[in-house]
Amino acid sequence: MARRKKIYEGKAKTLYEGPEPGTIVQYFKDDATAFNAEKKDVIEGKGVLNNLLSEYFMLGLGQVGVPTHFLKRLNMREQLVRSCEIVPLEVIVRNYAAGTMSKRLGIAEGTQLPRPIVEYCYKDDSLGDPLVTEEHIAAFGWASQQDMDDILSLALRVNDFLSGIMYGVGIKLIDFKIEIGRIYDGDFQRLVVADEISPDSCRLWDIKTEQKLDKDVFRRDLGSLTDAYSEVARRLGLMPNNPASITKPTLIN
Ligand code: C5P
Repeated sequence: MARRKKIYEGKAKTLYEGPEPGTIVQYFKDDATAFNAEKKDVIEGKGVLNNLLSEYFMLGLGQVGVPTHFLKRLNMREQLVRSCEIVPLEVIVRNYAAGTMSKRLGIAEGTQLPRPIVEYCYKDDSLGDPLVTEEHIAAFGWASQQDMDDILSLALRVNDFLSGIMYGVGIKLIDFKIEIGRIYDGDFQRLVVADEISPDSCRLWDIKTEQKLDKDVFRRDLGSLTDAYSEVARRLGLMPNNPASITKPTLIN
C-alpha cells in the first residue's frame, strides 16, 4: 500500500492527505495528554471511541444545519474530513462552572451559570493556550468581527444541540471546546465546526450521580477512561448492550 503523506501530528490525532484534493484523513490515536502534555499515557481503545463519538456528534450537527468539516467515517480509527484553515482559537462554552473557570473565579465546580458563557483561548501550546478577549482577537487579526459573530452563533448552536442530546441520555453537558475551520469556495469563505467533538473535549457528568464521563477521569485519576467513554457511547446507542451477542459464533447448517 502506498504510504500516505502525513500533514500534521497532534497530541490525540494524526492528519494525512486525503484521497481527493481538499480532503484530509483524521486518524484518532490512543494517546491521552493533559495539562499541556505534562501528563501522558496510552489508553487502549480511546481513539476508536472518539472516532465513533465524534462522527455521531458531527453527523447530528449536520442534520440540524450546523456546518462541519466531517465527510464520513472510514474505519475504526479514521474519518475523512474537508480540509480547512483552522482559526487559531479554542472556543469554549460553559453551562456549569468547572475546571479553569472554577479556579480562576473561585466558583464551586458544578454551579449552574446564569447563561452559557463563551470563552476564547489563543491556540498556542508553548503559551499554554491563554484566555484572550475579543479585543485581542480583533487587534491581532485572528478573526474578523463578522467571523466572531458567526463563531458565537455556531458555538451556541453546538451547545444547544449537544446539551439536548446529552440530557436525553441522562448526562449534563458542563462545558466543551470546539475548533473552527475556514473553507474557501472561490472568493467566499465559510466557517465550519472542525477538529473533533468527543469526551476528550467536553465535560460530561451523569445527571443523577455527577459521575464524570470525560477526560477529567484521566486528568484526575478517577478510574478507567475507556469505561467512561464507552458508557457515553453505550447510552447514545453506539455500542451493543451485550457485546458477546455479536461475537458469538453461529452454527451454519
Ligand atoms: O480546562 P478548562 O476548564 O478551561 O476546559 C474547558 C473545556 O474545554 C473542557 O471541556 C476541556 O475538556 C476543553 N478543553 C479542550 N482542550 C483544551 C482546553 C480545554 O478540549 N486545550
